[in-house]
Amino acid sequence: AAKDLVVVGSLNCDLVLPVKRVPQPGETLAADGMDTVPGGKGANQAAGGAKLGHPTHFVGQIGTDANASLLRASLQEAGAKLEHLREVPGPSGTAIIILQSNGENSIIIVGGANQAEWILSDAAKAEVSKAGAVLLQREIPEHVNVEVAKLAKAANVPVYMDAGGMEGPLDPQILACLTLLSPNETELNRLTNMPTENEEQIEAAAKMLQGMGVEAVLVKLGAEGSLFLPGKGQPPIRQRAIKADKVLDTTGAGDCFTAAYTVAILEGMDTKAALQFASAAGSICVQRAGAMPSMPSRADVEALLASTK
Ligand code: RIB
Ligand code: NA
Repeated sequence: AAKDLVVVGSLNCDLVLPVKRVPQPGETLAADGMDTVPGGKGANQAAGGAKLGHPTHFVGQIGTDANASLLRASLQEAGAKLEHLREVPGPSGTAIIILQSNGENSIIIVGGANQAEWILSDAAKAEVSKAGAVLLQREIPEHVNVEVAKLAKAANVPVYMDAGGMEGPLDPQILACLTLLSPNETELNRLTNMPTENEEQIEAAAKMLQGMGVEAVLVKLGAEGSLFLPGKGQPPIRQRAIKADKVLDTTGAGDCFTAAYTVAILEGMDTKAALQFASAAGSICVQRAGAMPSMPSRADVEALLASTK
């Protein structure tokens, strides 16, 4: 059997404000209500892996506020193992999500417990060292990611990282440990300072990222699919997206894609099949509202894959 996935990262309570468009500076706009939804890139990815039926542990920090129980309950419902979820006094992480009617979003996060002093227990460290793969993002202090990446690498555990979260360059110590780094266009641009307006530019920037020490780069292009650079001089793979009938809410779709790809590889699929699997998962995710609640089950993904054959 494939070994467990360990996701180390953030949890956020998402305050979703549906609006027609993003307000201009100095402009006042009314939102069409406000939804409170469980999210956070780490928690979304853990829920994503667990809902796909893969044994998935979540290592993270949750607050002691009212939102904490919502976050814990929805991770539990998704099937994620929470023995390494640490409670710290104070608020949980929060994300303000401006959700436009075309499904696009802009997000502002408030760290809360994700940015409080981190303590990695010995049990959590042991979980990392015996994992089938470790999955990281950028919504927790970078020194924690450095520590986890090094631990995993020393134990020969592949390290996957979703580039979503804080801006700024990635610590070279992390880059040196990564089996795969997965940015979207915006994150690729932020990490390389190179333009990512068209496919040529995206490929050049992804190669630059690879030159910084990462083995493989998987660029998420949303409705345009993905670009995968396997590394070691192998040719890039360009994967088209499985088209969504109606894009309702793209929040969490990147998390869903990265988690699904990681699970697929962990379970032994080849790159092409894994990209197709991730693309199906992402396509379902954008047709559902909210981040964590929009993660598809294994059966959902397999049904979509079967219908596209
Ligand atoms: O990637 C989507 C997530 O980003 C949201 O759930 C929000 O919490 C922010 O972390
Ligand atoms: Na969604």
